[in-house]
Amino acid sequence: MPWLLGRNVLETSCLSRVVVSLGIEVVVEGLTKEFGRQTIWRDVTLTLPEGEVSVLLGPSGTGKTVFLKSLVGLLKPEEGRVLIDGVDMVNDRDRDVFEARKRFGLMFQDGALFGSMPLFDNIAFPLREHTRKKEQEIRRIVLERMEMVGLGGEERKLPGQISGGMRKRAGLARALVLDPEIILCDEPDSGLDPVRTAHISQLLIDVNARIDATMLIVTHNIDIAATVPDNIGMLYRRDLVAFGPREALLTSDEPAVLQFLHGDTRGPIGMSEEKDAALLAAEAADTAGPARTRRTIEIPPQLRPTPGMPPRQGEHRHSLRVDEMLPRLSYPAQQAIWANRNHPQEGGRNGAN
Ligand SMILES: Nc1ncnc2c1ncn2[C@@H]1O[C@H](COP(=O)(O)OP(=O)(O)OP(=O)(O)O)[C@@H](O)[C@H]1O
Ligand SMILES: [Mg+2]
Repeated sequence: MPWLLGRNVLETSCLSRVVVSLGIEVVVEGLTKEFGRQTIWRDVTLTLPEGEVSVLLGPSGTGKTVFLKSLVGLLKPEEGRVLIDGVDMVNDRDRDVFEARKRFGLMFQDGALFGSMPLFDNIAFPLREHTRKKEQEIRRIVLERMEMVGLGGEERKLPGQISGGMRKRAGLARALVLDPEIILCDEPDSGLDPVRTAHISQLLIDVNARIDATMLIVTHNIDIAATVPDNIGMLYRRDLVAFGPREALLTSDEPAVLQFLHGDTRGPIGMSEEKDAALLAAEAADTAGPARTRRTIEIPPQLRPTPGMPPRQGEHRHSLRVDEMLPRLSYPAQQAIWANRNHPQEGGRNGAN
């Protein structure tokens, strides 16, 4: 199975291959989204660094899916900009946004496969829709991506004839066919058992190692958040409460972040996202206390590519960036960063996909 995909590869000889191009950064500035009188989030500013893997957390209904759709221009925020290599996905002409959208791979929350189409045609769909490639070339690309996500030999199956985990991987294969420079995954783990969740985590890291795409993964799964990304952000109460190195968020003592990481009923997040003031006050008076205030979460080492994969270039660039910000991070975050760096580099804890 080839290591690296077309655009990213310069063949220097039949044996050696060198990565020559990178994922591109996504710059989000002052983004505000409203539906009628409902503000979903406001003034969101962050940069997804090129080739790094980031996770977006947040209670249900905080607008994570709306955020992903806004990045690709499928939804139009009322204010702000999303810059992809000079194209503003919010304000530029439809034609430019449509072209820029081809640089993205999208893995939707529900897989979004066409039920009556075999997997092969589902995965070939973006190539037939967005390119003029010949069927022979389409076949080569589709089979290569299916092999990559462990679906080799399943081309003729319909989505209804395969498991939920396979459908997720088919969604990822489809997100990969256009050689995306940016990959957005909306809950790649939902509905998966812990073993398959571990496999998909490893797959995401391996994909990043292979193609160096900039990745944003929306998830509720704390194991994924703790082990996969370089950076984590969290949406809460219409704001981006944090975005930074994985270790900074995992050691944060922000009450909403702590509550979310611990899956605690105590704290500012309620069933309808925000608790009302009366309930919060009652909790505060409770002897059990309103919310956890100490860091108790174990920070595992970050997943590394499966042995035999190329090293992640994004990881290298991330550590250079983090070096610069290290003095400004909290002491627990600094400790966690050093512990991760000093951890043996065995890689591929989850085994093969
Ligand atoms: N097209 C739309 N028109 C009006 N309101 C919408 C639209 N799409 C989403 N919303 C609203 O925006 C809010 C955020 O929805 P979104 O699907 O982004 O949440 P989420 O954070 O992805 O939640 P979950 O974790 O459950 O997937 C919800 O209140 C939803 O009802
Ligand atoms: Mg969602």
